[in-house]
Amino acid sequence: MNWIESTKEKMLSLKLPTDPRWVNIAEMNIEDILVDHAYCEQKAASSCISMIVLFNEFEKLVDELTPVVAEEWGHFERVLEQLKKRGFKLGKARKDEYVIRLKDFVKKGGNRIQQVTELLMMNALIEARSCERFKLLSKNIQDEELKAFYYELMVSEAGHYVNFLELARYYGEPEKVEKRWKEWLQYEAEVIKGLEIRGDRMH
Ligand SMILES: [Fe+2]
Ligand SMILES: [Fe+2]
Repeated sequence: MNWIESTKEKMLSLKLPTDPRWVNIAEMNIEDILVDHAYCEQKAASSCISMIVLFNEFEKLVDELTPVVAEEWGHFERVLEQLKKRGFKLGKARKDEYVIRLKDFVKKGGNRIQQVTELLMMNALIEARSCERFKLLSKNIQDEELKAFYYELMVSEAGHYVNFLELARYYGEPEKVEKRWKEWLQYEAEVIKGLEIRGDRMH
């Protein structure tokens, strides 16, 4: 099994697949989806920067997340390009219910290892869900250019998912991380279940 295949296998760890109706609604709202997507990339870059600043003593984390910042910012630039090409503007950032709900689940307090592994697992889940949605878009939308674009991003976000999860496993105690990861997966599925299906949101 090659790397991409094994990553896709791991993607299946998400407990609830996206409602297939989402992609059809999203395609009808491509401007809103692109705007929301641009801000997802911005948040991904910002979140890596925050982790580097907050957890500067974790050398491997700093080394591995630094290039991810550049990659996510590169994605932001490319989404912006896709918006401009279609005559759309960036517009304002929208409230991100999905991320707000995930943040609620982050355990407060604990030692530095507990804190860092919590955030790494939360970020891994956001990457996994984004990857799943990009895959749906790349498979189902008509626009050939966006199809290819989303396929490429799917592969990239799958790599980030692996980065975050492996960092959590590197720093945390294996059994604790596995147990907590299962809780995170369960919780994320409940969040997805509880969110309204919207064609103007990536999540
Ligand atoms: Fe990205
Ligand atoms: Fe990413």
